[in-house]
Amino acid sequence: MWCYLAVLLGLYFLRRWYRERQTVDNLREKYVFITGCDSGFGNQLARQLDIQGLRVLAACFTQKGAEQLEKATSDRLKTTILDISSTDSVVAATKWVKGIVGSKGLWGLVNNAGTGTHVAPNEWLTKDDFAKVINVNLLGTIDVTLHMLPLVRAARGRVINVSSIGGRLITLGGGYCLSKFGVEAFSDSLRRELLPFGVRVSIIEPGAFITSIAVTSDEGLKSIWDQVPSDIKGCYGQQYLEGYFKIFKDILKGASNNLYLVTDCMEHALTSRHPRTRYAAGWDAKLFYIPLSYMPASVADYVLSLSYPKPAQAV
Ligand SMILES: NC(=O)c1ccc[n+]([C@@H]2O[C@H](COP(=O)([O-])OP(=O)(O)OC[C@H]3O[C@@H](n4cnc5c(N)ncnc54)[C@H](OP(=O)(O)O)[C@@H]3O)[C@@H](O)[C@H]2O)c1
Repeated sequence: MWCYLAVLLGLYFLRRWYRERQTVDNLREKYVFITGCDSGFGNQLARQLDIQGLRVLAACFTQKGAEQLEKATSDRLKTTILDISSTDSVVAATKWVKGIVGSKGLWGLVNNAGTGTHVAPNEWLTKDDFAKVINVNLLGTIDVTLHMLPLVRAARGRVINVSSIGGRLITLGGGYCLSKFGVEAFSDSLRRELLPFGVRVSIIEPGAFITSIAVTSDEGLKSIWDQVPSDIKGCYGQQYLEGYFKIFKDILKGASNNLYLVTDCMEHALTSRHPRTRYAAGWDAKLFYIPLSYMPASVADYVLSLSYPKPAQAV
């Protein structure tokens, strides 16, 4: 019985491996638009796809980021400036992409841009703090997607949305995980709606990686604490703040600097004939966060709260 099961499992993985290594044709003719290419995953993916010969349309948040990327890549790669939280900017970028891709359409849309600010205990934050993050990570992603969809549909292409393990399991307070849960939900509904048009939607769920987003969260906590009303500060206490800093430090300590673990998933979602629906990227995501997200809430609460500090006025 176990023997049959092992053979069946082996055959399943063999078939999956075989299917997934088949790539789409004419990759060098295909256009891919990536947001957030100044740094981190977006920057590396832009370079990686450029080396592979794809036609990369890289959207950067800053002029400096765009200039640096252009210097480091081939003439094929083109850049534009995009703030995904501004509809005017999204409209301008869509016009730019349409002018380049023409009737070929857009093969790949990679919604990568994001911000990691305002990660803190919920009670330390204001509605505006939540809105700032959701406005970029979720509403910005939705806005870019809605504008670019006609171009993607024309190419029967791919939408790749960068979520996080924070989109599967709430690890810390603030709008970041909320925004990523939203990205997951948006991607799930989009995938079902677009399948009849031949458009595939994939979600990337990275664990912790050393990029500027991870560092920003750490620095931002201090300025959030400075704004917290004194009665609430009293409930948590200075030691809680130190303990929260330690959570960030521990996450950074365990974070990977091998960004290829993420960009290879993105590349696969764009180039394989059989892209996956979800890609968990990084060992922490595969072996800890995603399995924990399937556990009963009481188990996840217990495991995650082990690293939480104790508030000064805890009962
Ligand atoms: N690093 C991780 O551990 C991790 C884990 C899970 C998920 N992710 C996700 O991965 C994606 C890429 O992040 P990363 O880790 O590569 O960090 P990153 O280096 O900070 O990249 C994020 C990029 O988005 C840009 N950006 C920020 N706000 C923007 C806006 N309003 N419009 C357009 N672009 C904007 C940033 O520009 P500036 O640098 O100029 O601000 C930066 O180029 C994000 O969606 C993030 O949530 C990261």
